[in-house]
Amino acid sequence: MAQDNNTWSGRFSEPVAELVKRYTASVDFDRRLAPYDIQGSLAHAEMLTECKIISPDDLKDIRRGLAQIESEIASGDFEWSLDLEDVHLNIEKRLTALVGDAGKRLHTGRSRNDQVATDVRLYLRSAIDDLLVLIKSLQNALLDLAEKHTHTIMPGFTHLQVAQPISFAHHLMAYHEMMARDSERLKDARRRVNRLPLGSAALAGTSYPIDRRMVANTLGFEGLCENSLDAVSDRDFAIEFTACAALIMTHLSRFSEELILWMSPMVGFIDIADRFCTGSSIMPQKKNPDVPELVRGKTGRIHGHLVSLLTLMKGQPLAYNKDNQEDKEPLFDTVDTLTQTLRIYADMIPGIKVKPDAMRRAALQGYATATDLADYLVKKGLPFRDAHEAVALAVRHAEQKGCDLSEIGLSELREFSSLIAEDVYGVLTLEGSLASRNHIGGTAPEQVAAAIARARRT
Ligand code: ARG
Repeated sequence: MAQDNNTWSGRFSEPVAELVKRYTASVDFDRRLAPYDIQGSLAHAEMLTECKIISPDDLKDIRRGLAQIESEIASGDFEWSLDLEDVHLNIEKRLTALVGDAGKRLHTGRSRNDQVATDVRLYLRSAIDDLLVLIKSLQNALLDLAEKHTHTIMPGFTHLQVAQPISFAHHLMAYHEMMARDSERLKDARRRVNRLPLGSAALAGTSYPIDRRMVANTLGFEGLCENSLDAVSDRDFAIEFTACAALIMTHLSRFSEELILWMSPMVGFIDIADRFCTGSSIMPQKKNPDVPELVRGKTGRIHGHLVSLLTLMKGQPLAYNKDNQEDKEPLFDTVDTLTQTLRIYADMIPGIKVKPDAMRRAALQGYATATDLADYLVKKGLPFRDAHEAVALAVRHAEQKGCDLSEIGLSELREFSSLIAEDVYGVLTLEGSLASRNHIGGTAPEQVAAAIARARRT
C-alpha cells in the first residue's frame, strides 16, 4: 500500500487516530527549536558532503532550501502542521517540497533521536549564555546599591530576632556572593551541555563513514557524547541546568521575602518604586510588592520543573523513549521564567529607596551590641562564658529599665563586672560594633568596601 499523508509509511495500514495525533504531537512547543534544528542540519549536510555521502549539488540545494525555511519561519509565513508531529518533520517535509530529492537525503545517517538531543543542547547553550549576562547585570545593580550603603546600619538577624548590627551593603553583598556561585554553577553545567550527540543516529550509531568531530567543530561543541545509547537518551544536562535554575530562584526567593518584609509599614526599611508595585481594588492605602511576591511564587514552579524532569528520566530504560519529548515544556518554561525574573530584578534594584533612619532605630532596639560588650570583657581577661552571663544580666536590667545598654550609667554597668570602664561606651555604639568586625567577610565598612571592589574587578 502506498504511503499517504496520514500514515507513517507503507508499514501502516491505517492513519493515526485524530486524538492520538494531537496527543503525540510536539510541534506547538518544539517549534522554538527551529533555528537550532536548521543550524544542526546544515552542519550535518556539510559533513555528509565532505565525507562523500551526499553530493555537493545536494548540499547546495539543502542550503538554499533551509535558508528559505529560515526566512519563512522568521516572517511567520511558515505553515506548521500538526500532521507532521514535530519541528524536525515539519522542516524536513518543507525542505523536500522546496528542493526535491536533496531534501530527502538530509536525514541520511541521522535519526530524530540524535537530532532532537542536539537541538536541545544548542538551545540550552545559548540560553545559558544569555542568562549569564543577566546574572551579571543583576550583580552590578547590587554592587551599585551596596556602594552607597557601607555605612548604613541595620540590624542583622538570626531567627528573625535582632542579633548584631551590620551594614545594608553587607547584607546586599551576601546576595551578590550567592549570585557569583550561581553563575559558576551555570558555567560548569554548560561544559556538559556543550557536547555533540549527533552521529549516534537512532541509538547504535550509523554505518555511513561520518565525521563527528567535524560536526562538533562546526557547531562549536567542546566534545562528543561518546556513547550513542547515552547520547540519545539521557537528559541529565537539562536536569542539571534546571537544578542550577532552581537554586538561582531559591536565592531570589529569599531576597524577595526580605524585600517584602522590609517594605511592610511595620518595618519600613525600604520602599520599592511605584512602577514595580500594584494597588488594591478595595483598600486605597495599599501599595503591594507584587514583583517580589511573584518571584517567590514562581520559585515553586521552577522547583516543580526540576522534579518533573527527574521523574521523567527515572523510569526510562536505554535508549530513547518518547517520554523525553516531555522535557521541553519544563525546560523552556524554566529558561523563560528565570530570564524574566533576572531582568525584572536587575531593573527593580536601582528603584529601591533605602530608609536609613528606620534601619538604625531597629538596630537600636534589640540590644544588638550585647556581643560586643561580652567581647570587651573577654579582652579584659574574663572567660567568654562568664562574660556571656554578665552581659545577659545587664541586658535583663536594661530591659527592666526600658533602655539601651549604652544608656546605662558607668557605676550601674560596673555592678555586672568590675572590669567595665569608661571606654566601654566605644564598643556599645553601632558604629563601634561594625568597625570592630574588620576581617575578610566581616561587616566593617572598610571590609565591605574592599569586597565590593573585589567584586567589581572580577
Ligand atoms: N519530538 C521528539 C522528541 O522531542 C523527537 C524525537 C522523536 N523520535 C522518535 N523516534 N519518535 O523527543
